[in-house]
Amino acid sequence: MEFSIKSGSPEKQRSACVVVGVFESRKLTLPAELLDKAANGYISDIVRRGDMEGKSGSTLLLHNVPGTLSDRVLLVGLGKEKEFREKEFSNAIRTTVKTLNDTGAFDASIFLTELAVKKRSVAWRVRQTAIVALDATYRFDQFKSKKDEVRRPLRKLTLGVERRNELALAEEALQQGLAIAEGMALAKNLGNLPPNVCHPSYLAEQARAMADEFKLDCQILEREDMDKLGMHSLLSVARGAHQPPKLIVLSYKGAKASEKPLVLVGKGVTFDTGGISLKPAAEMDEMKYDMCGAAGVLGTLQAVARMQLPLNLTVIVPATENMPGGNASRPGDIVASMSGQTIEILNTDAEGRLILCDALTYAERFDPDTVIDVATLTGACVVALAGVASGLFANKDALARELLDAGDEAHDRAWHMPLWDDYQELLKSPFADMANIGGRWGGAITAACFLSRFTKKYDWAHLDIAGTAWKSGSDKGATGRPVPLLTHYILQRAGKLN
Ligand code: BES
Ligand code: MN
Ligand code: ZN
Repeated sequence: MEFSIKSGSPEKQRSACVVVGVFESRKLTLPAELLDKAANGYISDIVRRGDMEGKSGSTLLLHNVPGTLSDRVLLVGLGKEKEFREKEFSNAIRTTVKTLNDTGAFDASIFLTELAVKKRSVAWRVRQTAIVALDATYRFDQFKSKKDEVRRPLRKLTLGVERRNELALAEEALQQGLAIAEGMALAKNLGNLPPNVCHPSYLAEQARAMADEFKLDCQILEREDMDKLGMHSLLSVARGAHQPPKLIVLSYKGAKASEKPLVLVGKGVTFDTGGISLKPAAEMDEMKYDMCGAAGVLGTLQAVARMQLPLNLTVIVPATENMPGGNASRPGDIVASMSGQTIEILNTDAEGRLILCDALTYAERFDPDTVIDVATLTGACVVALAGVASGLFANKDALARELLDAGDEAHDRAWHMPLWDDYQELLKSPFADMANIGGRWGGAITAACFLSRFTKKYDWAHLDIAGTAWKSGSDKGATGRPVPLLTHYILQRAGKLN
C-alpha cells in the first residue's frame, strides 16, 4: 500500500473515497462538518435519521454525496468523544482500512489523522495510522494454493493533516511508521513460517540477505566457533537437533565508531519440543513461535536501518532447535557457560535461558552501552500478564522507565517485574553454580534472575514476550511485537520522536 500526506479540506479531495469520523450522540468531527456544509446538510440529515449514530466500530458508506469531488464518503463511528484515546483511534483506523478493502475503492483520503488524541501529537497519529493500516491488511498465505482474494484491494491512502506547517513533521512520521510496520511484517513473517522452513540456517540466510540489502556487518558463528568460545550452555540445547545451530551477529553503524552500541539479543529457538523434558502434544505447533525474540530484534534492526537512525546497533541471535534424541541433553547434566559459571540442567525445556546466557556473555565484546534481550521465555509470564503486556526486567531502573514509556507511546506495553535478590535463592543447585529452573512459583522472575547472572557488566533489560509475540486460537498468528516498543525506544534515544 502507498501512503501520502496532504493538507486541505475533505470536500475538495478527488479520490475514490473520503473518510471522516462521527462521534457518538451523532456529533460530527470537524472534517465531517466541512463535508456536510458543502453537501448542504446531507450528512447531518443521515445522522439525524439514525443511520449512523457514531458507535465505535460502525461504518456507513455513501455514494455521490452532493458538493464533494470524491466518488464515496465513508462515515466511521468513533464512540464517545470524551473517551476517544489511543486505543479508540487505532480501532477507528483498523475499521476504516478493513471496510475500504471491502469496497471498490482503490484509494482513499482519510481525515481521522486530524482528530485530537489526548497527549498525542500529529506525528504520533500519522505513525500510528501507517502502523495500524499495514497491520490490518497483513496476510500470511504463501502456503495456500488458493489465496483468499481481495476483489479490489486498497492501494493508496492519503492522510489529511490540518495545517500546512505540519506537513514536514507528518512526512517524517509517515516514513517512521512505514519502517516500523515493515519491521513488524518481517517479524510476523519469520514467526509464522513453519518450523521445517524457518530453522537456524534459514534465519542465518535471512540475516545475510538483510546485511546485503541494508549494508550491515554480518557474522555467523558455527558450532565449532561456539565450541572454541566455550558456549557449552548454548551448544547443550542444540545437541538433540539435526539442524545445526547458528549464532547470528548483525551490526548497523549509524554513528561514530567510538559510540558504544545498543545491543539487542533475541531468542531464536526455531522449534521448542522441550527436549527430553518433552512438552505435551496439545498446541505444540505454537512452539514454532519460540524464535519470535529473534524475529523481533531483526525486525527492529531493519526498521532502524531503513530510517538510518544515528546510532550503532548490534543484534545477536542464538538460533537452535530444542529436540529430543539420543544425543540430547539430559535432566541432571551439568554444563559450563561461556562466562565460566556452571549450570545444572534440571529441565531441558528451560532452554531459552541456556542459549541466551552465552549470547549475553558474548555481547560483552561489543562494549555495549545497553543490552536488551527479547525472548518467549516462560509460560509463567503468560500466566501473569496474558497477551496484554510483555514482562520487563532490568538491572537499572532508568532503563526500565524508558522502555515502559516507549511501550506506552507505541501501545505495545510492558510491565515492570522485580529482580530482587530473594528470588535468586530459588536457583540454588547442590552440584553446580546454579540450576536452570527455580521451581514452581514466580517462573518468569526466576528465569530473568538466571539471565541477570550473566549481565553484570552492562546496563541490561529483559523482555519476556511469551504472551505477546503471537496470538492463539482462530486468529492465530505472530503480532510483530515488540518491534513497536523497541523502535520507539530507539527513536526516543536518537531524539527523533516527535
Ligand atoms: N518457549 C517456552 C516458553 C513458553 C511456553 C512460551 C508457552 C509461550 C508459551 C520455554 O522454553 C519453556 O518451555 N519454558 C518453561 C520453563 C520451565 C520448564 C521452567 C515453561 O515456561 O514452562
Ligand atoms: Mn522450552
Ligand atoms: Zn522455549
